[in-house]
Amino acid sequence: MHLRCSNPECAATLDLHDRALACPACADLLEVAVDRVVTAPGDLKRMWLQRRSSYAPLDASGVWRFREFLPGGYSEIVTLAEGNTPLVRGKRAAEWAGVHHLSFKHLGWNPTGCFKDLGMTVGVTEACFVGAKAVGCASTGNTAASLAAYAGRAGLTAKVYLPAGQVSQNKLAQALDFGAEVVQVDGSFDRALDQLLHTLDGTYFLNSINPFRLEGQKTAMFEMLEQLEWQAPDYVIVPGGNLGNTSAFGKAFVELQAAGLLEKVPRFVVVQAEGANPFARMWRSGSRNLEAMENPETAATAIRIGKPRSWKKAMRAVRNTNGFVMDVTDEEIAEAKAMIGRDGIGCEPASATTLAALRKLSAQGRIDRDAVIVAILTGHALKDTDFIIKSQQLREGCASELPA
Ligand code: F0G
Repeated sequence: MHLRCSNPECAATLDLHDRALACPACADLLEVAVDRVVTAPGDLKRMWLQRRSSYAPLDASGVWRFREFLPGGYSEIVTLAEGNTPLVRGKRAAEWAGVHHLSFKHLGWNPTGCFKDLGMTVGVTEACFVGAKAVGCASTGNTAASLAAYAGRAGLTAKVYLPAGQVSQNKLAQALDFGAEVVQVDGSFDRALDQLLHTLDGTYFLNSINPFRLEGQKTAMFEMLEQLEWQAPDYVIVPGGNLGNTSAFGKAFVELQAAGLLEKVPRFVVVQAEGANPFARMWRSGSRNLEAMENPETAATAIRIGKPRSWKKAMRAVRNTNGFVMDVTDEEIAEAKAMIGRDGIGCEPASATTLAALRKLSAQGRIDRDAVIVAILTGHALKDTDFIIKSQQLREGCASELPA
């Protein structure tokens, strides 16, 4: 395996363990070029399922269980038995959205309550492999919590750069609990990320432009397909912030198809909050370039991002799957979030963009009521308890409008 430039027209290659953050030739983002997997699809599927009955750390992890498609050669992995999250039917949510077959892939049921753990197990393992002593990220909260936990496991220093006053207390508390050094930056996430990039100084960088993170995150799609007995759904709906997840999932589909594990690819629907929607704007305008937003604003603080770094990879993923990009208002997010709660599932606000989008699509007749849909829930309900208390207080008096 090696690293390669993600720009197909460049495709420069680097050593797998090179610490470059961008292509030295064209400055686009890098990705891990996975070696061709020669094992027969049926054997892979059987082996991956069998590993679920093993307690060996590599098998007990829902990420490393799929290691044939991951960077390897590590003598030790840093793991918290991440992954292995369920696909839960959303019966009442489906009714509310006006569709018949809706499941939630709940990545919020990971060790630190977010999908970031899937990427951190690989990212921090790689950081240890290259001899890093400190790891760092900028974050709207979840990456920080996850990085801090995995760094703690590995005995590394964790430095997290957070937009001051814009991160949920629950996430900040997690990062502190796991022993991170917290730097509060005035301004947005985008500013915090720029600041970190200018002060790296040997710190191993673990935002989602790090290609190893995306390798771990892509396994969410392997697991989802396994849970659907390798029958792709018609749609996968995913919240979009910095667009790492969309990029990782798109990579998964390309690799699974090439290995004969997947015939039909699901259509991606990427959803942003209306006040932080540079990718949705780009989609609607048909522009070839992303115009960054200076002051993104949404109550779904996880995705309050104006300058998503992985937009090129993500756009390729959307186009490859004949997908599309849209946005929803904060009111629609709050309503959808309450509905997911009523279904006994719960999620953080950013995750509820998925159901809000689905309801909108169904009301507009843009999605077949019988389509098989998986909505990706990215964070746990307890990630932002302030949002719940505030929005439930606002709802007092109108609770009777919710379906019984
Ligand atoms: N949902 C949640 C709960 C998130 O925390 C994030 C991103 C996203 C969705 C968007 O994912 O960036 O891959 O498009 N959170 C980052 C953080 C930015 O710092 O925790 P994306």
